[in-house]
Amino acid sequence: MCGIVGYIGERSCAEILLDGLSKLEYRGYDSAGISVLTEEGIRTVKRRGRLQNLRGAVETAKLTGNCGIGHTRWATHGEPSDRNSHPHGTGRLSLVHNGIIENYLGIREMLERRGYVFESETDTEAAAKLIDFCYKGDPLAALREALPVLRGSYAFSVIFADYPGKIFAVRRDSPLIVGLSEEGNFTASDIPAILRYTRRYLLLDTDEIAVVERERVTVFDVAGNRVEKEVKTADFDMGAAEKGGYPHFMLKEIHEQPKALRDTIQPRLEDGLPRFSELPDDFFDGITKIYIVACGTAMHAGLVGRCAIERYAGIPVEVDLASEFRYREPLLDPEHHLFVCITQSGETADSLAALRLAKARGVRTLSVVNVLGSTISRESDQVLYTYAGPEIAVASTKAYSVQLAVMYLLALRLALLRKGISEEEVRRLTAELCRMPEVVEQVLAREDEIHHIAAACQNAHDLFFIGRGLDYALSQEGSLKLKEISYIHSEAYAAGELKHGTISLVTDGVPVFALATQDALYEKMIGNIKEVKARGAQVVLLHREKAADVGKIADLSFALPQMEELFCPIPGVTVLQLFAYYCSLLRGCDVDKPRNLAKSVTVE
Ligand code: M6R
Repeated sequence: MCGIVGYIGERSCAEILLDGLSKLEYRGYDSAGISVLTEEGIRTVKRRGRLQNLRGAVETAKLTGNCGIGHTRWATHGEPSDRNSHPHGTGRLSLVHNGIIENYLGIREMLERRGYVFESETDTEAAAKLIDFCYKGDPLAALREALPVLRGSYAFSVIFADYPGKIFAVRRDSPLIVGLSEEGNFTASDIPAILRYTRRYLLLDTDEIAVVERERVTVFDVAGNRVEKEVKTADFDMGAAEKGGYPHFMLKEIHEQPKALRDTIQPRLEDGLPRFSELPDDFFDGITKIYIVACGTAMHAGLVGRCAIERYAGIPVEVDLASEFRYREPLLDPEHHLFVCITQSGETADSLAALRLAKARGVRTLSVVNVLGSTISRESDQVLYTYAGPEIAVASTKAYSVQLAVMYLLALRLALLRKGISEEEVRRLTAELCRMPEVVEQVLAREDEIHHIAAACQNAHDLFFIGRGLDYALSQEGSLKLKEISYIHSEAYAAGELKHGTISLVTDGVPVFALATQDALYEKMIGNIKEVKARGAQVVLLHREKAADVGKIADLSFALPQMEELFCPIPGVTVLQLFAYYCSLLRGCDVDKPRNLAKSVTVE
């Protein structure tokens, strides 16, 4: 989604803005622009397409000044074009925006009636011109008058021609931080944009307005009172936000999984048993049902969580897509239900809305979040952080693995509390979970085998993933990963469901990736594999070592090491991530920045 960066300081800002925007590329974008306060007033350059287009135009324009704002746009209202790119404004002000202004049409009509002329199709231009309309020489007063009129979500950075030393920043439901450094101060959507200059930053709360100057930052609440903000320090350095010798962030992050798993599991162990010291002791008391709500990959982690929690803790679990949950009027019981939100970024708009709905209904909320201090982590009753470190590639990999780890720990913790299984069995399973980083390392050491499988499937138009139980949950993640970065059309099917319709699509040479890691379901899976084989499918089988008849049923296969089958999704997903990665690479796709996708989906 859109990325914002602003700088006011001693240095010339154009290069700093371009550098900051390049660090936000991972969020996904299709155009970019900057505005700089120069001696001739505000000058703006914007271009459709990749940042290098903008860079060339900025060099030609020779923008000199040390206060400015920049933006990478992920198109929502209006096609990607120079005209629709941000910044937007008037001669008096320039503004960049992340979010959606829902009532922009009404605002636009009102302003057109008063003589404003619009140049773009964007919702953002309506906000910029509304602030201009409210501006009578005092930027803070203009913002305070305009903000209550806006419906929707926003993070804004605004510069005013009359105030060359100041950037005004405000947010509602879209992320925005203020970076602090000796050589100037920043506004940014995310830490990587400023990490080269500083690790110190402030988090803005909803509708707080920051006035960012060279040597100071002043924050006001909605009523105009000054607010003291805590200065935070980013706990990761430049290395974490760079590729570290890998050709792509995705590959680097796949390889970081063993460490991420160790970092997430180890702090949650006490005497060989799972324990969440960050939660109050009575947090799970009286829970009779759990709703796990999330989007995309995070929702897939919830599906694995459901299998584990229902099997070991005996608590019924519903898994919902946040975008559905928020509108389906869920039957929530404040006393006995637990709402669990899973999210890497902690900023996903639908997940946040679902969380707010659950809170408004009085239900206990727990979020599993990777990004420290993100909106969802701040608004949840309790948080379980995953310690994957920053995930930059659009395709989520290490974040999913650690979400699985937390789901397993949660299932085992609940099982212990419920006394659903013996302490000895929980101890055995926990020890097995602790072995998963090592098992993932063994899979990573066999990357060549997965490259070989990808080479055999790279020209497919359609590819099916099939599985049962945990393998079906994992299939859904494998399929999402493949389509998002390789653009191969793919579907995940419950293996037993194929014959109810989809098998009509399985014809000669169509690859079917069959996941069969669960003993009790293995023979059933053989039956399903035979069905697709009989229709000409090229079968790739993911199984555990020593599985029967692999050579007879599969064209290609990958054996996971012997291990507890409950945890197969952890090394299993490593195989599927690498498979998607190599398919994408072999097809010449942009692995880290797949078309149309954004890292953090901050609009509905
Ligand atoms: O930040 P979140 O975990 O809330 O994001 C949810 C999805 O947008 C995300 O998992 C998405 O599906 C990934 N790009 C998949 O790789």
